Amino acid sequence: MNKKIIALIIAIIIVIVGVSVWFITSNNKEESTNNSNANTTENQKNDETQKDKVQEKPNDNKTTNDKKIAIIYFSATGTTRKVAGYIKNATGGDLIEIEPKEKYTDSDLNYGNDNSRANKEQNNSKARPEILNNINTDSYDVIYLGYPIWWGDVPKIILTFLDNHNLKDKTIIPFCTSGSTGISGSLSTLKNYNKNVNWIDGKRFSSSATQDEVTNWVKELSY
Ligand SMILES: Cc1cc2nc3c(=O)[nH]c(=O)nc-3n(C[C@H](O)[C@H](O)[C@H](O)COP(=O)(O)O)c2cc1C
Repeated sequence: MNKKIIALIIAIIIVIVGVSVWFITSNNKEESTNNSNANTTENQKNDETQKDKVQEKPNDNKTTNDKKIAIIYFSATGTTRKVAGYIKNATGGDLIEIEPKEKYTDSDLNYGNDNSRANKEQNNSKARPEILNNINTDSYDVIYLGYPIWWGDVPKIILTFLDNHNLKDKTIIPFCTSGSTGISGSLSTLKNYNKNVNWIDGKRFSSSATQDEVTNWVKELSY
């Protein structure tokens, strides 16, 4: 009789343990199924985001790759050249210098002397200083055009550049450097000189312009 009771108790214990083990293991399975479902959903979401990214990319590239950019500039003492280099870094465009056939010496640039070459050129509406290098603008859609301010205006060699090239329907973004004068006077000269260009109001930089300042400006323009 005692033996029978002991056997019954052992049987009950075995059943309880068995049920408990099954319960625990099936719960774990459920959890891992849920987790794997969650992971699958998460993965699907990620896949979709990746797809979106892949689809977005060509459009992103379109805005930058479709337009060919040049940074064309004249600089007598290096300040505008430095800013032009920053624009190149920010846009990846081609950097092209307008080189005067006759280089400007220090005395040519002496704005305190009425008879200095630069002053005489600026006072002569017909002056068109010659350019040494051949610049081909044909393949460019967007041109950043840089120059120093001379007596509130563009140096006359910039007008030589405009005379020498067919810039019809091109987008030109003027930029300049100066001691303090703004860009507006030179902008109206440019706009009146060639009305077939899509002129964008540009920007004047000081000699202490930084890469960050230039990069931010280029980003705002989004060309
Ligand atoms: C002939 C001449 C005229 C200038 N006229 C002005 C002017 O009207 N306003 C101004 O702020 N700076 C004027 N400047 C200073 C230049 O614009 C400034 O130094 C510029 O950053 C020089 O650029 P670059 O080094 O690229 O030649 C003049 C400089 C020269 C040589």
